Amino acid sequence: MRIGVFVCHCGRNIAGVVDVVEVVNCASTLDEVVVAKDNRYLCSSSGQQEIVEAINNFELDAVVIAACTPRMHEQLFRKTIEAAGLNPYMLEVANIREQCAWVHTANATQKAKALVRMAVAKARYLKPLEKREINITPRALVIGGGVAGIQSALDMAEQGFEVYLVERQPTLGGHMAMLDKTFPTMDCSICILGPKMLEAWRHERIQVLTYSEVEDISGYIGNYKVKIRKRARFVTDACTGCGVCASFCPVEVPNEFEMGLTNRKAIYVPFPQAVPLQYIVDAENCLGCGLCSDVCGANAIDFFQQDEIIEIDAGTIVVATGYDLYDARKVPEYGYNRYKDVITSLEFERLVNAAGPTGGRLIRPSDGKEPKKVAFIQCVGSRSVKAKRYCSGICCMYTLKHALQIKEKSPNTEIYIFYMDIRAVGKGYEEFYWRARDAGVNFVRGRPARVYQDDEKLVVVAEDTLLSKPSRYEVDMVVLAPAIVPADTGKLRQMLGIPADRDGFLIEAHAKLRPVDAPIAGIFIAGCAHSPKDISSSVSQGSAAAGRAAALMTKKRLEVDPITAYVIPELCFGCSLCREVCDFNAIELIYGKANVKPNCTGCGSCAAACPTNAIQIGCFTNEQIIAQIDEAFDENDDRPRVLAFLCNWCSYAGADSAGLARLKYPANVRAVRVMCSARVDPVFIIKAFLSGADGVIVAGCHLGDCHYMTGNYKAKRRMEKLQSMMEQFGVNKDRLLLTWISASEGEKFAKTITEFVEKLKTMSAIDDEIKKLIHVSQEVENEDSPKEWDSLRSN
Ligand code: FES
Repeated sequence: MRIGVFVCHCGRNIAGVVDVVEVVNCASTLDEVVVAKDNRYLCSSSGQQEIVEAINNFELDAVVIAACTPRMHEQLFRKTIEAAGLNPYMLEVANIREQCAWVHTANATQKAKALVRMAVAKARYLKPLEKREINITPRALVIGGGVAGIQSALDMAEQGFEVYLVERQPTLGGHMAMLDKTFPTMDCSICILGPKMLEAWRHERIQVLTYSEVEDISGYIGNYKVKIRKRARFVTDACTGCGVCASFCPVEVPNEFEMGLTNRKAIYVPFPQAVPLQYIVDAENCLGCGLCSDVCGANAIDFFQQDEIIEIDAGTIVVATGYDLYDARKVPEYGYNRYKDVITSLEFERLVNAAGPTGGRLIRPSDGKEPKKVAFIQCVGSRSVKAKRYCSGICCMYTLKHALQIKEKSPNTEIYIFYMDIRAVGKGYEEFYWRARDAGVNFVRGRPARVYQDDEKLVVVAEDTLLSKPSRYEVDMVVLAPAIVPADTGKLRQMLGIPADRDGFLIEAHAKLRPVDAPIAGIFIAGCAHSPKDISSSVSQGSAAAGRAAALMTKKRLEVDPITAYVIPELCFGCSLCREVCDFNAIELIYGKANVKPNCTGCGSCAAACPTNAIQIGCFTNEQIIAQIDEAFDENDDRPRVLAFLCNWCSYAGADSAGLARLKYPANVRAVRVMCSARVDPVFIIKAFLSGADGVIVAGCHLGDCHYMTGNYKAKRRMEKLQSMMEQFGVNKDRLLLTWISASEGEKFAKTITEFVEKLKTMSAIDDEIKKLIHVSQEVENEDSPKEWDSLRSN
């Protein structure tokens, strides 16, 4: 094998901390390395040119890049070496930026050398792999019928693709349908949304399924299989939307669309412009009197209607599941739900809406009188260590809109906006702010301490922090701006395998370069499911997601990475353990030998289960991983030393997040990337200890969030079993740490490493336990010990 090593300075990002020349010198001494070079920016065209020239001049068989995280430029470098005639999988990346230069000050060069050594060790075992081609079903599923989902569906349908648009409410529209006006243009919200809703409904290539929920998703990019539950409306498509049924219905319950400010009947449409304009029976509150059925001229009431399960194949999925408002009752000091005239921003929207419960007249819910003094309180649950730490992004602007709406109708109404900072970032937004100021709106900088009622008045207690002056403001009405929180999509998120950040918003594949791609291939994210955003950003993101999905579907066939399982038939004796642990039914036995089907996702659980190493994963074979483990430490490394197996999708990304945030942790930790924690063979743990580690970490996605269904549950069972075996043989089981770290939990990653290293320091030297570990190793690899073996390997 002739290996070339290329070390990137990344400007001062790496070279400012790591002695790049020393790393290059070290690399050049490694076996099979025939050339080692450094470059200021390897990802630049001149950097790539240098790699191409070296491949040709030195007749390289494999390339090691020491640079930023492989999650950033691995694909770029694969293309680079492919352009020079090498198989693209003859590449290994040493992450010396996010997981070295950005997180260590002391010993960063020492660690960078180790990471390069590990990458070269792995490269020696790289094998050319053939790309797989898969069919792409030219059909998209859009989950969420708010403005982002509608835009996405329309854009894809216009490009000729069939689209299923699934919405769990009885109508399209989402929250935008509830708004009165939009900022900063002050257009009527439903006037601009309504035509889009209808366009989607009428589009020949869009199948709209309202009052429906995705029940199951399986498959992979280009070939998703989706089950959708279309819930019974008890009203058939024959409904003309005339509303006679509702006028006879004797039941009245709070109207959710009107935020409970008025009532609706048990047979209802959410609002007059609903799409479809088809009534629905609220089965929970219906008395079953049958009056609606008696008066329905279209004969559209069907009390025997059942839920329907619709199964579709989709090539791509756009997730646009929107948002909810933070529950203002959780900020009790503002009196929401205690005082009638403390309302939320969405309730305000309905009160000032001409189609709302008051015909657009802003009145106090308590007495129906027009308020003369109104206070708006910002950041209710946002930017708060007690609730949501993030800024909800849109509250400042919609509050300015609300203030202007009041001023336009009643210029003499006194308005106070209590704010932390006014965030007016967007086209025309700053001007909008000045419009509100010019209209006489009062701005008070500071988070109010509390709101209480004194006779008929509400009193806001606040300190104007610009004047350092505490005051009490007597007002008639208080409008709260609660934080924007993601809609409750826990089950859907698990089915899709998309990680969420600590606040529950979906995480994109790359914040800068792939902002609408989910980390799972073929799935895209749009609107507030990703983060709080205004209407124009939601629409832009809906279009962006549609563009990405359409680009994929246009291809019809797609080359995908061959990072999947393959079988070495001579080693397979047909025990079937691999088949048992596969969540994807991707392994079959043919003539007593395992055979991998095209739907393999490459999690590696089968490879960890195989007792004879007969099943392997492209780019993550046993010999490649063990080679990395063997090179992780040398005699110069300080103790205690930690080897961490990190799953690609969450924990490795979490380690990168620690780098992005420049969080420091001890340098004597070495990471081995695996696709899923289920890939970690118990043998790797023992090897790590025997190769000089004092502690081992296995870190994956949080339970329930594994990108390969139950991969981390398998890892958990295996590691817990191994821990008990360690204990049984007198090895301190705390040397093996199993943990769950998501892609956004950089802080948790740094803290976990730091605390683990501190804990290892309190343990006695591992030397005494090495002999005992050898016993564990023998037990792990003992084929004649089926009971122990099975519990370590099987489900
Ligand atoms: Fe992270 Fe399975 S993908 S644990």
